[in-house]
Amino acid sequence: MSSIASQQRVLSGMRPTGRLHLGHYHGVLRNWVKLQYEYDCFFFAADWHALTTAYENPQGIQQSVFEMVVDWLAAGVNPNNANIFVQSQVPEHAELHLLLSMMTPLSWLERVPTYKDQQDKLKDQDLSTYGFLGYPLLQSADILIYRAGLVPVGADQIAHVEITREVARRFNHLYGREPGFEEAVEAAITKMGKKSAKLYADLRRRYQESGDDDALATAQALVKDQQNITLGDKERLLGSLEGSGKIILPEPQALLTPASKMPGLDGQKMSKSYGNFISLRELPDDVDAKIRKMPTDPARVRRHDAGNPDVCPVWQLHEVYSDDATRQWVQQGCRSAGIGCIECKKPVIDAVNAELAPMRERAREFEDSPDLIRSILERGAENASAIAEDTLRDVRAAMGLAYR
Ligand code: TRP
Ligand code: SF4
Repeated sequence: MSSIASQQRVLSGMRPTGRLHLGHYHGVLRNWVKLQYEYDCFFFAADWHALTTAYENPQGIQQSVFEMVVDWLAAGVNPNNANIFVQSQVPEHAELHLLLSMMTPLSWLERVPTYKDQQDKLKDQDLSTYGFLGYPLLQSADILIYRAGLVPVGADQIAHVEITREVARRFNHLYGREPGFEEAVEAAITKMGKKSAKLYADLRRRYQESGDDDALATAQALVKDQQNITLGDKERLLGSLEGSGKIILPEPQALLTPASKMPGLDGQKMSKSYGNFISLRELPDDVDAKIRKMPTDPARVRRHDAGNPDVCPVWQLHEVYSDDATRQWVQQGCRSAGIGCIECKKPVIDAVNAELAPMRERAREFEDSPDLIRSILERGAENASAIAEDTLRDVRAAMGLAYR
């Protein structure tokens, strides 16, 4: 598969953390559900990445993967629209990781900010391992093995996409120079036809001589629009524009997922470690109990004390879930002591339960049939593997390993 066709490919991974909560839904999963209808999507459970930190105690990882995948499916990620799989079930990721490790400077990995940050944060674990240093490179392999064009991630992962781009660039630079590359480019230019050929050559010169980015963009569009040349030739023409060889591993783009606005039950960001979450499979009575127990404006000691929604975590939930009319009712009622806090919480409880109802139902279906999950993951891994093999074949050949 070519880098041109693969620009429609979206890849993202999540470390298995067990059951997911509303923060994951509003932050990540809702976005995945939307993307699966717009792109060719690959979503996987990064169990090897989990091992980089949990290597002393790996027993829970498998269970966490299953719980997490059930929640993906519950949230509406659909195995008929997206490939869902487990990283370790597509061992091609590991071979690419190994091959990339040969050409990745140690200093690139040492300077990724998460390396030192995580070591400082997870003080009780010894993270001075080879595997942990290689975490971002394994992630690069995850992305590059599918020649994915877009990688939806949060801000904390941008540095990992950036190093992926650098690794791809270096790879193409080192190994993209097939014998006869220049001649192949010239032949491809001729195949475009006189007019386009001249335009291509002019634009390439303008970009290479004066760094004219518009000329580059126009030339790239020109190449992509050609009807009569092969994908291999298109890649040569694209590579030649930027003075590199053939593009074997295209550079992906991060698709920044806006930070989740989902507040937790205490007004801090919803997080498993804060214990302030509502899980995607929370039962209606538990949703009710958790929200009823939420702290409110401490100034409202008694029912007739007026309050201020600005300092109340329940208001933050209204901002996520309520329409204008309900918000008005809260603002007015709270500030005038016209409504009580229990009353105020009711629409939020109803909205959360309405959001979770279809998820609970889907989750139940999957919880009851682990075989179904296994077969979804197997099918996902097969599809993923087929594409991964294509990439690996090119990578091996480029690195002089074309034995098979
Ligand atoms: N490191 C990512 C995280 O912690 C998970 C991940 C692993 C990933 N491989 C990936 C994300 C590839 C995007 C693409 O969230
Ligand atoms: Fe918070 Fe609503 Fe009570 Fe005001 S009325 S303090 S917004 S829960």
